Amino acid sequence: MAKVVVTGGSGMLGRWVVKHFVEQQYEVVNVDTVRPQEWLCPTIVADLTNLGEVYQALAGADAVVHLAAIPAAHIRTSEVTFENNVMSTYNILEAAAGLGIRKAVIASSESSYGIVFAVNRFGPSYVPVDEDHPQLPQDSYGLSKVVNEQTADMFHRRTGMQVVSLRIGNVIPPERYEQFPSFIHNSAERDRILWSYVDTRDIAEACQLAIEKDGLGSVAINLAADDTSMAIPSRQLLAEQFPEVAEFREPLNGFESLLSNKKAKQLLGWQPKHAWRNYAPEA
Ligand SMILES: NC(=O)c1ccc[n+]([C@@H]2O[C@H](COP(=O)([O-])OP(=O)(O)OC[C@H]3O[C@@H](n4cnc5c(N)ncnc54)[C@H](O)[C@@H]3O)[C@@H](O)[C@H]2O)c1
Repeated sequence: MAKVVVTGGSGMLGRWVVKHFVEQQYEVVNVDTVRPQEWLCPTIVADLTNLGEVYQALAGADAVVHLAAIPAAHIRTSEVTFENNVMSTYNILEAAAGLGIRKAVIASSESSYGIVFAVNRFGPSYVPVDEDHPQLPQDSYGLSKVVNEQTADMFHRRTGMQVVSLRIGNVIPPERYEQFPSFIHNSAERDRILWSYVDTRDIAEACQLAIEKDGLGSVAINLAADDTSMAIPSRQLLAEQFPEVAEFREPLNGFESLLSNKKAKQLLGWQPKHAWRNYAPEA
């Protein structure tokens, strides 16, 4: 049985990823600074900013799925967010390289494009936003994700380790769908995340595909549902909140996502299965 270490497995997304790998018969170890609410697998309590702890936590693993982070701007001070997220990712990849682990997934974010936490508001250069879109963060959280992707590239160059950086859209666990009716008719809500979302169970499946595929190198891949989180058509959302956007690279006739998931489909063979329209009470 293959052993996968999931970091941040006590967190909101992590517990779904741990659950998924356990269900898929992997040997799973969670590494987090806090214990999970529910026991799903062994947990090692460790601070990933300490390289020695990371080495011990990763020993014997075949792959690592690194989700641990301060998951947004403004939760902690800027420099604490940057230091925690950048050093923990550096240490994970440094230890993985040292231990001969050949597959890693790291949680990047749509926040790396910079729109969500921008002090000086700006919109996308074109839509849907794909992985070639400029990453222009004005905040230390978005910057930490850009740096982490570069760290991944560096370790891949040095060791050949495969590192998939998943630029995840707004993470939605199943219990959150009941809240959707409160915002789906107001384009001013969730505009800075381009109204994106992605179900925790679909992210977990992408993590599995990313460690099971070969030959991906170091690559950044968006993860978003096929549709937006809104009951307003995508073109209307843009017209109302980002009227300056003029370049449409897809027809966007309905509720299509403004965060492209084409590359995830092409490279991983991923297909999101969970859409809010199948769950929310007023959908
Ligand atoms: N929530 C979202 O909408 C979203 C969107 C895009 C990307 N992401 C990314 O997905 C990942 C998971 O996010 P989440 O929303 O589940 O966050 P979360 O805060 O619920 O979980 C993160 C976990 O990481 C742990 N952690 C943080 N720093 C650590 C350290 N130094 N050592 C060990 N453990 C540490 C925390 O204890 C926590 O349990 C993060 O990398 C986040 O940046 C989240």
